[in-house]
Amino acid sequence: MRLILTNIGQLVTLAGAKGPRVGDQMRSLSILEDVAVVCENGKIVEILPSGNLRPTFRSKEAYVDVAGRVVTPGLIDAHTHLVFAGTRIEEYEMRILGSSYSEIAALGGGIRSTVRRTQALDEDELLDESRQHLEMMLACGTTTAEVKSGYGLSKKDELKILRVVRRLAEEARADLVPTFLGAHEIPDEYRSDRDGYVRLVIEEMLPAVSAEGLARYCDVFCEERVFSLEEARAILLAARSYGLGLRLHADQLTLSGGAALAAELRAATADHLEQIGESEMTLLRDAEVMPVLLPGSVFHLGLKKYPLARRMIDLGLAVVIATDFNPGSSPTPSLPMVMSLACTQMQMTPAEALTACTINAACSLGMEDSVGSIEVGKQADLVVFNCTDYRQIPYFFGMNLVRMVIKRGKVLDLAFDGKRI
Ligand code: NIG
Ligand code: FE
Repeated sequence: MRLILTNIGQLVTLAGAKGPRVGDQMRSLSILEDVAVVCENGKIVEILPSGNLRPTFRSKEAYVDVAGRVVTPGLIDAHTHLVFAGTRIEEYEMRILGSSYSEIAALGGGIRSTVRRTQALDEDELLDESRQHLEMMLACGTTTAEVKSGYGLSKKDELKILRVVRRLAEEARADLVPTFLGAHEIPDEYRSDRDGYVRLVIEEMLPAVSAEGLARYCDVFCEERVFSLEEARAILLAARSYGLGLRLHADQLTLSGGAALAAELRAATADHLEQIGESEMTLLRDAEVMPVLLPGSVFHLGLKKYPLARRMIDLGLAVVIATDFNPGSSPTPSLPMVMSLACTQMQMTPAEALTACTINAACSLGMEDSVGSIEVGKQADLVVFNCTDYRQIPYFFGMNLVRMVIKRGKVLDLAFDGKRI
């Protein structure tokens, strides 16, 4: 089956040197104008001027005239918690009225309240709910996503979540990269036995996750009142011994040393980083750890301190942006919205923002050979936006400009009709 997109006004290819883009490279998008893209067997096989296209009228050929619109690579969301049950609207309201995220968590709300709801669903029910989250993301142009567990916090429920990720991935609407985040919070029944929970993660959960091949990465929420540096180090070193790559929730609410730990362990990414300063940025750069910045959570928690993306780019870090899609701190499935926040709140240019959620995000997941840019030989993952200049993607906000999503050469039927949450 061949799919041909014609009359592309701007084809934002992101083609370029291999590896993560840093510094000025983040602004170079390699845009082609008035071109067509030919996809065959799920891959991009040719890019040519629209005028050179000669229809062959083969029976297995579909033409889509995009009428001068913008086409980008399928967006890549390198940090999500998309498998969860319910919402946290009560806490949203409490925060508006003055309580803080940490206070609510300390009182038994926060992550633990989503854990209770997620544990209550069986695997099929959780799959149904998570599928709706994925459809929301697809409708916003995401075709590849990292997905963390972390709302199970028991061996049985963490495995259940990772199996849901695997089944969703098998439905093949998106590429999903599973991350084990058993150390997301201390569950209710271990509040007076933290060591016991860390042992459970290391001695029971990790071996089981590994035996079933359910995760590619391991993550820990390293934060005051959650997991300490020492606990995080022990869990991540154990994960590495099972062959998992490392990611880390680091220095989100307090400067607790997570970024330095990510550098020490040469993790793939250090995520959040709202609180880090110059010296931690240098450590990350020198260890080639990619910062994954999540402005949606700063926005939704009503906080003011966004991570210093401008400074990171100027220092030569390969910045990634992601949604952090989760019910507590960032209930948005939309990378275009995150791009808007990156531009207006973190002084990233529209080009840098797009680089950060395409090719750099792909590199952070070790997937740059197949996704993240529009190049012959790569997977045909494409998004058609209803605009004529890519800068309009972050410029318009609070609306969805996505017109069409193509995954592995197939136009997706965006069935999302508004989830009844
Ligand atoms: O990335 N920081 C830890 N985890 C999530 C929040 C999860 C939740 O509140 O449910 C985050 O912000
Ligand atoms: Fe997160």
